[in-house]
Amino acid sequence: MSQETPKALWGGRFSESTDAFVQAFTASVEFDQRMAREDIQGSIAHATMLAEQGILTDTERNSIIEGLRQIEAEIESGQFAWSIAREDVHMNIESRLIDLIGDTGKKLHTGRSRNDQVATDIRLWLRGTIDHAISELSRLQTGLITLAERESDTIMPGFTHLQAAQPVTFGHHMLAWNEMLERDAGRLIDCRQRMNQCPLGAAALAGTSYPINRERTAELLGFDKPTENSLDSVSDRDFGIEFLSAASIIMMHLSRFSEELINWNSTAWQFVDLPDKFCTGSSIMPQKKNPDVPELVRGKSGRMFGHLMSLLTLMKGQPLAYNKDNQEDKEPLYDAADTLIGSLRAFADMMPSLLVNKDILKDSAIRGFSTATDLADYLVRKGLPFRDAHEVVGQAVALGVQTKRDLSEMDLAELQAFSDLIHDDVFEVLTVEGSVNARDHIGGTAPNQVRAAADRAKARLAAR
Ligand code: ARG
Repeated sequence: MSQETPKALWGGRFSESTDAFVQAFTASVEFDQRMAREDIQGSIAHATMLAEQGILTDTERNSIIEGLRQIEAEIESGQFAWSIAREDVHMNIESRLIDLIGDTGKKLHTGRSRNDQVATDIRLWLRGTIDHAISELSRLQTGLITLAERESDTIMPGFTHLQAAQPVTFGHHMLAWNEMLERDAGRLIDCRQRMNQCPLGAAALAGTSYPINRERTAELLGFDKPTENSLDSVSDRDFGIEFLSAASIIMMHLSRFSEELINWNSTAWQFVDLPDKFCTGSSIMPQKKNPDVPELVRGKSGRMFGHLMSLLTLMKGQPLAYNKDNQEDKEPLYDAADTLIGSLRAFADMMPSLLVNKDILKDSAIRGFSTATDLADYLVRKGLPFRDAHEVVGQAVALGVQTKRDLSEMDLAELQAFSDLIHDDVFEVLTVEGSVNARDHIGGTAPNQVRAAADRAKARLAAR
C-alpha cells in the first residue's frame, strides 16, 4: 500500500495536508477495496445515465467507461496501486481514472457524492453476498432432505432435557433442521427484497440540481426502484443490521446443530461418524479424531453476534444524515459474510457423507425407556385416567431400571402385575417401531410422514 501524499480530491479548501497518522486512521481503503467491483459497476451506470441525460457527451461517457474497465482489469490482476493517501476505494478508483483519461475523468463525480456512492456499493455487495449465502443454504438443505429420505426409517432416541424421551426417526430429526434453515432463507430473501432500492442520486444528502434520471440508474444496477428519501438513502444502514440479524439466527442454528454433531460423534455416544476429511487429529493423542468443523462453526457464532452488536451500536444515536461513523459498517459486514458463507459451505459439504450408526441409535432409543409414554397411552385407551396410567408406567420403569431391562423385554405376567388392563397386544406399542409408526400425522415422526414431509420440502426448495 502506497503512503505517498498526492493532493486529496477534496483538498481545495485546505491550507495544510492531513497529518500522516490521521490520514491512516481515517482511511478505509485497506478494507473497502473489497467493493471495488461494485464501485466500478455503480460508476458505469452513473456515467451511462449522465450521458443519456445530456450531462456528459457520448465521447466522455465512452472514455470514462473504458478507463473504468481498464482499472477493473488492473485490480483483478493485482497490478492496481492502492494508496492510503487516496483514503477509500472510491477515491482510489476516481484518481486512477483521472490519471488514465485526464480531465474527462473529473466529470464522473457530477451529480454524485461518495455518500450515495458508498450506500450503493454496500447494497450491491450485500445483495451478491445474500445470493451466495442463499445458494449455500439451499445446498445444505438439499443434503439434509436427502439424508432424511435415506434415514426415514432409522430409529433414534428423541430428547428433552437431553434425556431420552420418545423414539423418533433420524429423518424426522434432519427435517427439523431443514425447517429452521428454511425460515432462515426466508429472512435473507426478505432482507434482500427490502434492501434492493437504489440510493444513487441522493448525492451528499439533499439530492442534486442536475437533471438526473434515478429510475434509470436503479434499472441499470438491477435495483427494483430508487430509494424514496435522499436523507435516509445516505444514512440508512438498517439493511446491514437486518442482514446481520438473519445471519446471527443462522449461526445460532448452526451452533445448535454443531453441538448435536459433536455429541453424536463423541466416543461416548457414537451415534454418527463425521467423515475423516472434516476432522483433525491431536498432536499428542494418536487415537483422537476431533470434530473441528462443527466446533469451529459453534465458536464462530460468537463473532457473528458481536458484529450484530457492533452495527446496532454504530447506528444508535447517529443524527441524519451521513456521518463518518458509517465507515465502520464494513469490516463487520465483510467478516460476517465470510463467516456465514464459510460455515454454510462446511455444513453443506459435510452432511452428505455423514455416517449414521443405526444399531447404536436404535439401541439407545430402547435403553432410554423411550416407549414409556406409549404404554401410558395404551392404558388410557383401555380406560385408565392418564394420571393413573402415568403412575403405573412409572412403577414399571422403576423395575426396568432395577433389573436393567426395557419395558419391551419384560414378560406379560410381569407387566400385568402393574395393571390388569395389560394384555399381549401391549408388545405392539412397546417396540420403538410401533411407537414411531403410531405418530402418523402431519409433522409426526412416522416414516411415511417423514417421506411425505421430505417431498414437500423438496418442492418448496425447487420453488425458491
Ligand atoms: N469511506 C467512506 C465510508 O465508508 C465513504 C463516504 C465518505 N463520505 C464522506 N463525506 N466523508 O463511509
